[in-house]
Amino acid sequence: MDHFGYRRAACLIAALLLAFFPSATAEPAHNGERRKPIVLDRSGGFQIGGVIKQAPPSRFRNSTDTLSCDHGYMEYFIPWNPRRTSLVMWHSSSTQVWQNRWGGGDGFKDMFLRRDYPVYLWDGPRVGRAAWSCDPTSYRPSYQDRANFNSWNFGPSYGRWWPDVQFPVNDTEAWQQATSARYQEYDTFENVQLHARAASVAADSGKIGSSIVYLTNSAAGLRAQLTATRSNTTNIKGIVAYESVGYVFPDNVNATQNRRGGFGPVVVPLDDFKKLARLRGVQFVWGDHKRANDSNVLQSRRVAQLINMYGGNATVVMLGEMDGLKGSTHIPFADLSNDKVARLLDKFLQRTWLDGYVDGSKGREYWR
Ligand SMILES: *[C@@H]1O[C@H](CO)[C@@H](O)[C@H](O)[C@H]1NC(C)=O
Ligand SMILES: *[C@@H]1O[C@H](CO)[C@@H](O)[C@H](O)[C@H]1NC(C)=O
Ligand SMILES: *[C@@H]1O[C@H](CO)[C@@H](O)[C@H](O)[C@H]1NC(C)=O
Ligand SMILES: *[C@@H]1O[C@H](CO)[C@@H](O)[C@H](O)[C@H]1NC(C)=O
Ligand SMILES: *[C@@H]1O[C@H](CO)[C@@H](O)[C@H](O)[C@H]1NC(C)=O
Ligand SMILES: *[C@@H]1O[C@H](CO)[C@@H](O)[C@H](O)[C@H]1NC(C)=O
Repeated sequence: MDHFGYRRAACLIAALLLAFFPSATAEPAHNGERRKPIVLDRSGGFQIGGVIKQAPPSRFRNSTDTLSCDHGYMEYFIPWNPRRTSLVMWHSSSTQVWQNRWGGGDGFKDMFLRRDYPVYLWDGPRVGRAAWSCDPTSYRPSYQDRANFNSWNFGPSYGRWWPDVQFPVNDTEAWQQATSARYQEYDTFENVQLHARAASVAADSGKIGSSIVYLTNSAAGLRAQLTATRSNTTNIKGIVAYESVGYVFPDNVNATQNRRGGFGPVVVPLDDFKKLARLRGVQFVWGDHKRANDSNVLQSRRVAQLINMYGGNATVVMLGEMDGLKGSTHIPFADLSNDKVARLLDKFLQRTWLDGYVDGSKGREYWR
């Protein structure tokens, strides 16, 4: 056989192997099992919750000119046989955190699509794909890599990983991917209000269904709490906030609103705060290696207490105290242990009766 003959024979053998063992290469295995495929009825996206701003009159421009701006952007994925509850994944740093586990593999987006939940990826006004702002914005490079390592709690100081951290520490590409995936965040009091306005309009519109659970990370937790206090329907059913930085307080306790920066506290009328108590469940979830006296952990306990005092059901969950979840980071749903974090969310959705199917079938087994 000549050179090309060998090549042809090798290709034929490879094709035969693929035909007989398709899962060996074509299907990523999970614990040696084939996973349930993701079967979508449809996917797409839309803008929502924006304003139409009139141009100031000028020599060059008619005041009838307008700008449609400050909307949020919602991308959606609807399974073929969906459950009733929409999971709205609300990032702080970027949508990427919901899309893959650190170093690759299923993120919460695919995990919960496999479980038949409609998944929505949300960019609030001015961030990510909702960049069409009504006001001038600016971006100033801030040499953020070191700060990312610290704020995401990968270790006690830059470059020193926690020994048990749920991150592939020797995978330099994983670290590079993690630290590059960021948008301009606009952590200001005004941006928090702006996000809550757009998100509450989206929630009340019916366009994301009538059973919404927000999954939030970091600074998005405050925005989602505020959104629930602004909504005038019962469409929002729950919030699961991973490492929420910032809290909403009612105006009858001694909380002082902080208008500097986007990390709260934000104070709302008691009647609006009580909307958080009408949700089926609220969970404030913390990764490992948090100080017990961390001001945000303390605030989460206080707010959970207030929500429960008004008849709600809020809990604070410390992942570091649970088996297999030591070393959980600031973004635990992207951790190497994110399957365990997902199972905690399964339990939350079950006990709040938010796991039913649109077609009425319930309690079906989902594959891993
Ligand atoms: C403003 O509108 C008027 C009437 O349509 C038009 O005549 C004029 O040229 C416009 N001016 C500018 C600056 O576009
Ligand atoms: C990472 O690499 C170091 C040094 O080669 C090794 O000691 C350690 O076990 C590795 N860690 C993991 C999680 O593979
Ligand atoms: C809910 O009602 C209040 C009072 O009318 C209003 O200010 C607010 O904009 C409404 N929220 C939404 C999301 O429409
Ligand atoms: C709030 O603060 C004021 C002044 O510091 C104090 O008099 C009051 O007792 C406090 N109220 C509560 C409910 O803690
Ligand atoms: C929190 O606790 C640590 C020790 O566990 C202590 O060093 C620190 O000063 C405390 N911080 C506050 C704000 O109380
Ligand atoms: C919240 O719900 C859980 C599970 O249904 C229940 O065990 C817990 O007691 C509830 N907490 C409150 C404060 O109602």
